[in-house]
Amino acid sequence: MKRVLGIDDFFYVSDKSYDDLAERAIPHYHEAHRLLMASLDFPSDAPISVVDLGVGTGVTSAYILKNFPHAKVTGVDLFDEMLCEARERLSPFSGRVNLVRSDNAEYLRGLDRRVDAIVSAFCIHHQNEEGKKSLFSLIRDQLRPGGQFVMLDWTTYFHPHLRAISREHSLANMQSRVLDPQDQKKWTYHWNTVNKPSVHEDLIAWLNGTGLRAETFCRWPELSLIVAFAEKEDS
Ligand SMILES: C[S@@+](CC[C@H](N)C(=O)[O-])C[C@H]1O[C@@H](n2cnc3c(N)ncnc32)[C@H](O)[C@@H]1O
Repeated sequence: MKRVLGIDDFFYVSDKSYDDLAERAIPHYHEAHRLLMASLDFPSDAPISVVDLGVGTGVTSAYILKNFPHAKVTGVDLFDEMLCEARERLSPFSGRVNLVRSDNAEYLRGLDRRVDAIVSAFCIHHQNEEGKKSLFSLIRDQLRPGGQFVMLDWTTYFHPHLRAISREHSLANMQSRVLDPQDQKKWTYHWNTVNKPSVHEDLIAWLNGTGLRAETFCRWPELSLIVAFAEKEDS
């Protein structure tokens, strides 16, 4: 049974601290976003329709809108607090941005037109296995043939030792760059309790299981961070 996440699960939403802390807490934050954006295989002047699942404060969408000047992006998020910051960040692209307060799966279920691309950064790890699989099926359904899905996210390892050392690496990186001990505690709690990263190979298998053709574009193995790319082949 899918648990609906509330604001108490996201300290950075109620603290309004995401923009200040995310790029320090999350290693390779901008580099990984640039790779997500670069992996989208469309001409730069294509008028693509893109959905950004868990848009947060709009960083991923901003990369896409800047690099695809005719793209239109719909950003989906659970919280007005994040959408408000996304609205401000994305104001230079007005006319090409639509922000929707919704659960990702609910939004995709209600979508009445297939899109060219769906992206998601640091969001899908909040779902359990069942939630991820069902979201991947919805993504497959809502992409047009030839459409692409790119996911930047935390993963994990099957073996407990590898799982432990990749978590230690991520925490050590965060602790060296987020200096306030209270903030360090909040990130640690969030990563240890709210996040539900899956094994990287499982994610790729679940994506392939929907009929998408998925593979890993980039991987930071010691952190178990990945950019995965999937395409809906022309049928
Ligand atoms: C770690 S932030 C990432 C934000 C942004 N994508 C980025 O990379 O900076 C995760 C975001 O996903 C949103 N989120 C989590 N679960 C969601 C769901 N089921 N539906 C919609 N948004 C969700 C949270 O509200 C939060 O804004």
